[in-house]
Amino acid sequence: MTTADLSPRARAWNASLTASPGPLDLTIDRARLEGDLPAALRGGRVLSNGPGWTHIGGRLAHPFDGHGYVRAFEFLEDGAVRLRARFVQTRVYRDEAAAQRLVHRGLGTNLGPHFWQNLQFGSPRNVANTTITRWGGRLLAGWEGGPPHALDPDSLETTGVETFGGALEGQATLAHTKHDVARRRLVHCSIAMGPKTKLTFREMNERNEVVDTREVAVPGMLFAHDFAITPNWYVLVSNPLKVKFGQFARTLVGASTLINSITADGAAPGAVYLVPRGAPGPVRTVTLPDHAFVVHYGNAFEREGSVHLDACLFHHFEFGAEFGFRGPDAPLDPALPDTRAPQRLFRITIPAEATTATWQQLVPHGVDFPRVHPAHDGLETPLLFAATRADTRHSDPFDSLLSLDLRDLAKPPQVWSTPTSVFVGEPLFAPSAARDDAGYVLAMLSDGLEGCSTLAVFDATALAAGPVCRVPLPLLPYAFHGAWDQAR
Ligand SMILES: [Fe+2]
Repeated sequence: MTTADLSPRARAWNASLTASPGPLDLTIDRARLEGDLPAALRGGRVLSNGPGWTHIGGRLAHPFDGHGYVRAFEFLEDGAVRLRARFVQTRVYRDEAAAQRLVHRGLGTNLGPHFWQNLQFGSPRNVANTTITRWGGRLLAGWEGGPPHALDPDSLETTGVETFGGALEGQATLAHTKHDVARRRLVHCSIAMGPKTKLTFREMNERNEVVDTREVAVPGMLFAHDFAITPNWYVLVSNPLKVKFGQFARTLVGASTLINSITADGAAPGAVYLVPRGAPGPVRTVTLPDHAFVVHYGNAFEREGSVHLDACLFHHFEFGAEFGFRGPDAPLDPALPDTRAPQRLFRITIPAEATTATWQQLVPHGVDFPRVHPAHDGLETPLLFAATRADTRHSDPFDSLLSLDLRDLAKPPQVWSTPTSVFVGEPLFAPSAARDDAGYVLAMLSDGLEGCSTLAVFDATALAAGPVCRVPLPLLPYAFHGAWDQAR
């Protein structure tokens, strides 16, 4: 089947996920914008990262294995927008750009259809495609399973792998980090799996020195992509994993992939781990009301000794077929994620000293890409923004944005939806300098049928009213995560 045979929605999805415009330097003049760019945003930047090259040598790489493509949308003082986009110059990118084919086997991508083409067990395919974080005078392009790559914050040129003085060398490090603004620290988590899973939390100061390290072991294998912090805890859901030994054996002989070799252990009870932060003490294991599997956390905070955790939670989770990936020779199928159980936004409450938690679902929608005020990691925060689906039955691909007032959980969310075939990316909150509960929300809209993207700007207090400004752009590849970079 070619993309010409697909439904309009599937054609749009394939175009959005596989767009590959390459390095860009563009200025979009103020006259081309629909609505004016709010003055409060001027001088700031939206940063984003995601796979920017997935059709490689005639094969479609799993989106997790596409090459990291960092974008910076700078809001100029004259009301124009300047876009700069660059590939992260990883070793994997340089090798595959030179060869114009897949050279390094990935988490979900094999090099060829025959097993003998895939007998490769070298270093991981670190494509630096997942997150982008401004820290210590650089940008860090994060990836799941290895250290981040550092980029010059202005030119976006890659300066090298960032191991923080060797601390992350050879460490399977999560793509997501947390920023403790009060302590001026960036928190990383690394994971090593075995009969027990070792989790290592490291806190870096602004000089990129490791100033705190906490290593713990928890039973069994677990999956972690993200975590949360509070002033006194590192927080994550236990996400128990099982190995599918048949598939794993096939992976070892080049006939399957790592992502198809693991599965969530849906029979295991749900639990949250609370790892003491900045103090000794054992890991607290807190039982949840039911099985739970979490990929992304909104935030966590403490109130009178209780820990509160907002998380996008699956009751049933399966690996494989992410983004509708069906293999290197088939188009992506956006209907595939619809056949799976959605993830829902839950508030998990853990009283002081408790061994069991309570939870409440916060909105009827399927929710992912939860984001809050960029200076509120670990603190109580007024607003949460997320990507969602208008139909409330599914979570992705996203066609809507959602905002929720966390000060009044009984209040319904605000939702804004796009037409069919326009896909919505992660919303970023650019807070007002004066107020934590006001500012702007920035999100990318990808219209694969029209062949264009739009950077949409919303009033954070009136999301449902729609964008106050739209920045027209060429079709850019669908991004994973981004960051608001306040005026420099
Ligand atoms: Fe993520």
